Amino acid sequence: MPGVMPPTIEWAGDRVRLIDQRRLPGELVMVDAVTIDELCELIVTMAVRGAPALGVAGAMGIALASVRGDDLHAAAEKLISTRPTAANLAWGVRRALAARDPVAEAVDVAQEDVAVNRAIGRHGVSVVPQDARILTHCNAGGLACVGYGTAIGVIRAAHDSGRSPSVWVDETRPARQGARLTAWELDRLGIPCTVVADALAASLMAGGEVDLVVVGADRIAANGDVANKVGTYGVAIAARHHGIPFYVAAPRSTFDPSCPSGDRIPIERRDPAELGDVPPGVAVDNRAFDVTPADLVTAYITEDGVSTTPSG
Ligand code: MRU
Repeated sequence: MPGVMPPTIEWAGDRVRLIDQRRLPGELVMVDAVTIDELCELIVTMAVRGAPALGVAGAMGIALASVRGDDLHAAAEKLISTRPTAANLAWGVRRALAARDPVAEAVDVAQEDVAVNRAIGRHGVSVVPQDARILTHCNAGGLACVGYGTAIGVIRAAHDSGRSPSVWVDETRPARQGARLTAWELDRLGIPCTVVADALAASLMAGGEVDLVVVGADRIAANGDVANKVGTYGVAIAARHHGIPFYVAAPRSTFDPSCPSGDRIPIERRDPAELGDVPPGVAVDNRAFDVTPADLVTAYITEDGVSTTPSG
């Protein structure tokens, strides 16, 4: 029986404490950041990842800078540059920067995240039929937030309300957030799940083995285009082809009204080494996110409800 899950990220007096997701699923261990450089390193190496958790990390980074007496604007710039795609990171930084007490504000951002996730879950239950076979991509669970999850929040709310969902978990190449993190979370929650290679998703749909797809998001443009982990776009195309609903579960802090459309969303390019063995000298393109056009999204599930339009 798994023990109590610590928060993914929390303020610990004079430092930021977080679950070291690089060590999962093997070990559940915490790691602390005492300086902005340490926190930025933990973000870049994905000890903490997932858009809402990055929002909290951004706010806590400013809190850290304020207790250390660092230049807050330099800290903000450094934090925001670590991972460009997730809208929440800059959102969390801005919230703490604008506050009189950045520490109290960062703690609020973290607490609100759990409440917002639970509201997403409550609303999302309405789109989940009894015994639904759900496919998800990447990790939009408690590990990507402070503790409940967005896409996984919908699944766990459906599970808790007796709808008995089961989950196809895309492995999610190259960093394997699905196989390592989503499967670990679902297993701890007692929700039946099966990990599959990303490339199997379309065939599962063709075989009538998927009832709906639910994913998280890193940034949602004003027109509803959705940036999420690379591979999401292909899942959405396959879902549309097979007449399967494709839902995006995300907090309002992931919506970026200043970004008109998906082609303006900055796409992070990560270390080519993440793709593994490649012949020396051969080029590698490791774009970490892709953009799903709004017309492939059945509905957005937010803390405000379920809506076919991004504005709710
Ligand atoms: O590179 P990651 O692991 O930070 O990517 C995470 C995702 O793509 C998630 O789906 C997204 O951040 C939503 S998390 C609630």
